[in-house]
Amino acid sequence: MGKIIVGKISDIPSGKMHKVTADGKEILIINTNGNFYAINDTCTHAGASLSEGTLDECIITCGWHGAKFDCKTGKLSAFPAKIKDLQSYKVIVESDNIFLEV
Ligand code: FES
Repeated sequence: MGKIIVGKISDIPSGKMHKVTADGKEILIINTNGNFYAINDTCTHAGASLSEGTLDECIITCGWHGAKFDCKTGKLSAFPAKIKDLQSYKVIVESDNIFLEV
């Protein structure tokens, strides 16, 4: 497991999401109320990029068919069918830099 820099705090204002590629994976970084979280960007239903969805507090809604995921854990919070949770990653903030453990 390694620590990879993925951006600066100023790159992702509160209430916004930002897709990065780290260690060959597409990962979504989320800033909700100044707290940073990271989950896989690819929806487990049919592969949409969640960066094109919407963020409401800590719930990400997929733009394709509306699956909802918790941004802290990657767990599915609402969808008519059972689909997999998303992988979540540890985020480390040091001064103005955002790192992921991947
Ligand atoms: S691809 Fe995300 S809900 Fe269908």
